[in-house]
Amino acid sequence: MTTKPWQGRFTQPTDKFVEEFTASIGFDKRLYRHDIEGSIAHVTMLARQGIVTEAEKEQIVTGLRAILADIEAGNFDFSVALEDIHMNIEARLTERIGAVGGKLHTARSRNDQVALDIRLYLREGVETVREALRGLMMALLEQAERHLDVVMPGFTHLQTAQPILFSHHLMAYFEMLRRDLQRFSETLGRINVLPLGAGALAGTTFPIDREFVAEELGFAEVARNSLDAVSDRDFAIEFNANAALVMMHLSRLAEELVLWSSANFAFVDLGDAFCTGSSIMPQKKNPDVPELIRGKTGRVYGNLLALLTVMKALPLAYNKDMQEDKEPLFDTLDTLLGSLKIFAAMIAAMTVNAENMRKAAGSGFSTATDIADYLVRKGLPFRAAHEVVGKIVRFCVEQNKTLPEVTLAEYQRFSPMIGEDIYECVTLEASVNARSATGGTAREAVRREIERARRELA
Ligand code: ARG
Repeated sequence: MTTKPWQGRFTQPTDKFVEEFTASIGFDKRLYRHDIEGSIAHVTMLARQGIVTEAEKEQIVTGLRAILADIEAGNFDFSVALEDIHMNIEARLTERIGAVGGKLHTARSRNDQVALDIRLYLREGVETVREALRGLMMALLEQAERHLDVVMPGFTHLQTAQPILFSHHLMAYFEMLRRDLQRFSETLGRINVLPLGAGALAGTTFPIDREFVAEELGFAEVARNSLDAVSDRDFAIEFNANAALVMMHLSRLAEELVLWSSANFAFVDLGDAFCTGSSIMPQKKNPDVPELIRGKTGRVYGNLLALLTVMKALPLAYNKDMQEDKEPLFDTLDTLLGSLKIFAAMIAAMTVNAENMRKAAGSGFSTATDIADYLVRKGLPFRAAHEVVGKIVRFCVEQNKTLPEVTLAEYQRFSPMIGEDIYECVTLEASVNARSATGGTAREAVRREIERARRELA
C-alpha cells in the first residue's frame, strides 16, 4: 500500500472506493509541468531565505527535473492512492532523493499549490487561445479580401433586407472575435496573480519572499489576502465565460454556413474535407463540422454553469468542492481550441458561389429602401416615401417584376417625383456603394476596415 503524505493522523486505511471517488489524478495530471515549475520556484525561494540549504535545494530541483523528464517520456505511474498530481510528484520525489524531498512542501499547502498550478496552466492556455483566435481572424480577413466584389443579400428575420458585400458580412465576425481577443487579454491580468504563500488559508510562519516567487514565475502581482488567494476561482469562471462568448460567435457563423451550404442557398461550398456523407442517401454532403461546433457550444455553456454552481455559497476558504473546477475548465479549453482551429481551416478552404449570392441579392426587392431614400432626397418625407415604395413593391409582386424591370412610366404612376435617375439607385452596386460612412457596406468603407484589420493583426 502507498503511504499518503497525510497518513500520520489516521489509524485505518482509506476505503478503496473513497480513494477512487476523491482522487483527481485522472484529470489533474495534465498540470504536471506547471506543478513542477511552481515547485522549483518555491524551493529556490526557500533556499534564498535560508529555510532549506543550497545543497538541499539542488537535490530537490534535480529530482524534480528528473520527474519531469520521466513524465514526459511516459515513465511515470500515476497512483490513485496518491490522490492528485501534487502528492504523486512529491511522493516520487522522496522515492528518488530520500527524506530531503519532504522539505519541498515547507511553507506551502496543496491549497495554494493547486491555485498556482491552475493559474500557470490557464496563463498558457489563454496564450494558445489568443493565437487560435488570431488564426481564425486571419482566415476571415483573407476571404473578405478575396471576395471584395461579391454582393449578397443581407438579412433581417432571415428575410432578404438590403444588399451587402459578402466581405462586410465576414468582417462582422472579425469584429466579434476582436472583442473576444480583448476579453481574454483583460482576463489574463486577473489570472496572472501569485497565490502561493497563502499556505492552507492563513499564510505561513516561515519568512518567505512572495515577491521573489512572483518574479521567478512571471506573475505581475501577489494575491493580497491569503483566504481569497486559496479560494478564488473567479479567473477560471471568467475564462470560461469568455470561451462561452467565443463559442456563441462561432455557433452563429456555423449556423450561417449550414444554411449557405445547403442546396437551397448554395452560397458556399465547404469543401469535401470538412463534410461527411450519409450512409443511406447517396446525394448528401453534410456540413458536420459547423454542426458539431454549434453543438459543442452547449458543453462550454454547461461548463460555465458547472463552475458557477461549484463556487456558489462555498464558505471561505478552500473546500474540496473546488476540485470539481478542473474537468469543466480543461474541457472548455480543449473544446474551444479544437473549434477555433478547425474553423480557421474550414473558412480558408471555403469556396464562394458569387453568382448565386448575387442572384439572391437581386430578388426580394432588396433595393426598395434605396427608392425610398431617393424620394426623400427629392423632398418627400420618409414615411410618405415608405408608403409609395410599398405600393411599387406590391405592383412588382403582382406583375412578377423586379425593381430594375419597372418602366419609368410605371414608376411615375406611383410618384411624379421619380425620374430617369431612379435606375442609378436600384442596382445592387449603387445600393451597396451608397452606404459609404464608416461601418457601412460600401466597397470603399469595407476596404478601409479590411486594411485597418490587417494592420491590427500584424
Ligand atoms: N486535488 C485538490 C484540488 O484539486 C488539491 C487541493 C487539495 N487540498 C486539500 N486540502 N485536500 O482541489
